[in-house]
Amino acid sequence: MDIIRAGEVKTVAIAGAGLMGASMAQIFAAHGRRVAVYDISADSIERGRELIDINQRAGIREGKLCEAASRELVGRISFSGSPDVLGAADFVIECIVESMDAKKAFWAEASEIARPEAALATNTSGLSINGIAAAVKAPERFAGMHWVNPPHLIPLVEVIAGDRTAAETMDTVYELALSVGRRPVRVRKDAKGFVLNRLQFAMLREAMHIVESGIADMEDVDSVVKHGLGLRYACLGPFETADLGGLDTFCRIAEYLFADLSDAKSPQGMLAGRYRAGEYGAKSGKGFYGYPGDGAERAVSERDGRLMRLAECLYGRDGTG
Ligand SMILES: NC(=O)c1ccc[n+]([C@@H]2O[C@H](COP(=O)([O-])OP(=O)(O)OC[C@H]3O[C@@H](n4cnc5c(N)ncnc54)[C@H](O)[C@@H]3O)[C@@H](O)[C@H]2O)c1
Repeated sequence: MDIIRAGEVKTVAIAGAGLMGASMAQIFAAHGRRVAVYDISADSIERGRELIDINQRAGIREGKLCEAASRELVGRISFSGSPDVLGAADFVIECIVESMDAKKAFWAEASEIARPEAALATNTSGLSINGIAAAVKAPERFAGMHWVNPPHLIPLVEVIAGDRTAAETMDTVYELALSVGRRPVRVRKDAKGFVLNRLQFAMLREAMHIVESGIADMEDVDSVVKHGLGLRYACLGPFETADLGGLDTFCRIAEYLFADLSDAKSPQGMLAGRYRAGEYGAKSGKGFYGYPGDGAERAVSERDGRLMRLAECLYGRDGTG
């Protein structure tokens, strides 16, 4: 069976009306696709509608779109508590809870309902694509499509091949991401954490090692990233950086530094201890830092404001720079 090409994808079904699903619905709808959002929870559907409404109002306030365009966009998005909507889609993306059992149960049913030529993808943050694919009927049409939170502000999408993913499916998912203004990359192997989370957690492990070894305080480590590495990494990747710094110098530094870096095989105390104490970060009011009162809301809104301004500098107002 031929897998649908990206240019032929007119209808997208999103499973999961949560943080990621609601945001992705707006992106597909903004690029002219009809979107059906399916969720098992009526409350989540209500929350999904609210999230879209909040984002649309913010967009109008910031002059990114007018009332009429927003109404048109929202008009392309429908919600349903029935998985039957998956059967009408050219492309199905799953954004449900991050649990292998839940995802396998979902896909066992969804891949029966989906049209045989539809492309199928999971937005798992790092569960094995092959593991999930074991439950998918005709897994050659199934791939990973890992978006980054908040998806309407961060354009990267990792497109991940499982062992049985067809090259055509990779092309469709990759080109579909491009067609909705994303910056996709191909991840050729189903490696844990794909690329983004491997890099992110390598840095977090070392950041905790630095603090636990008394080399610098948490606030200063965050400053090093925000005002140093982060600014650079918004323009250059690590290989480009090394080329400009000189591979002779980088190799000499790696020779004395690699052996000194953390190779911890389990989460260090400063993460695991807080986790055991129920300190989950902004959402619980306390994590590495404190978020009393409306601190969590303020932290998210400050992040989004900065990201928006940065994205505009890098990609222009329409995201194509
Ligand atoms: N939040 C992030 O930062 C982030 C980033 C990238 C990827 N992801 C991944 O995206 C997925 C969703 O994350 P989220 O943050 O949007 O979660 P969320 O908890 O906000 O939303 C999940 C939604 O899935 C629904 N759901 C659960 N089981 C379902 C089922 N069987 N069928 C239909 N709907 C079902 C829930 O009711 C809920 O509305 C996860 O796999 C997560 O790892 C999350």
